Amino acid sequence: SKPLYADYIQERIRTVPDWPQPGVMFRDITPLLQDPKTFRLLVDTFVHRYMDMQIDLVAGVDARGFILGAVVAYELNLGFVPIRKKGKLPFLTEAEEYELEYGSATVEIHADACKRGDRVLLVDDLVATGGTMIAAARLLQRLGATVVEAAAIVDLPELGGSRLIAEQQIPLYTICDFA
Ligand code: PRP
Ligand code: ADE
Repeated sequence: SKPLYADYIQERIRTVPDWPQPGVMFRDITPLLQDPKTFRLLVDTFVHRYMDMQIDLVAGVDARGFILGAVVAYELNLGFVPIRKKGKLPFLTEAEEYELEYGSATVEIHADACKRGDRVLLVDDLVATGGTMIAAARLLQRLGATVVEAAAIVDLPELGGSRLIAEQQIPLYTICDFA
């Protein structure tokens, strides 16, 4: 079942055709972030969902996952952990490589970002092929954390990411999807 304000939130996501390359329909969340009422509805939707799930920590994925993840963490009175693109974190790191449509990418986490047994909420803006979310979840799991849920604003189900995430036994929550 869809969250109460799903349509209201989805209406404020802008589609930019052929960006960053021909054939891609880019789902741009900046109008949603820019409108104060919609931004608050979005954050509150996540906060209400997770306030009773005994979450210990919120992790967000570079870069759009930082915007939502940090605010949700703050509202839940929890700490925030950044999962970053390769080469940005200064301390000891764990790294996970994943496949893109062409080539590969790597995400990293600080080795002391969470403790064994921590119950972590993983946040990004969007699930496409699922590669980013799965790599981020693996990093948390390698540190001994439990990914209680992966959360995003948008799912693009035709790209298969939500199905792959389910196959990895990672619960996924998204507010809206674009077919
Ligand atoms: C986008 C998006 C997700 C990821 C989803 O990030 O914010 O993190 O792609 O795609 P996937 O499901 O196929 O992995 P991008 O790598 O464009 O980086 P950005 O947040 O810095 O814009
Ligand atoms: N990341 C991967 N695919 C995307 C899309 N179609 N729109 C926005 N972000 C994306």
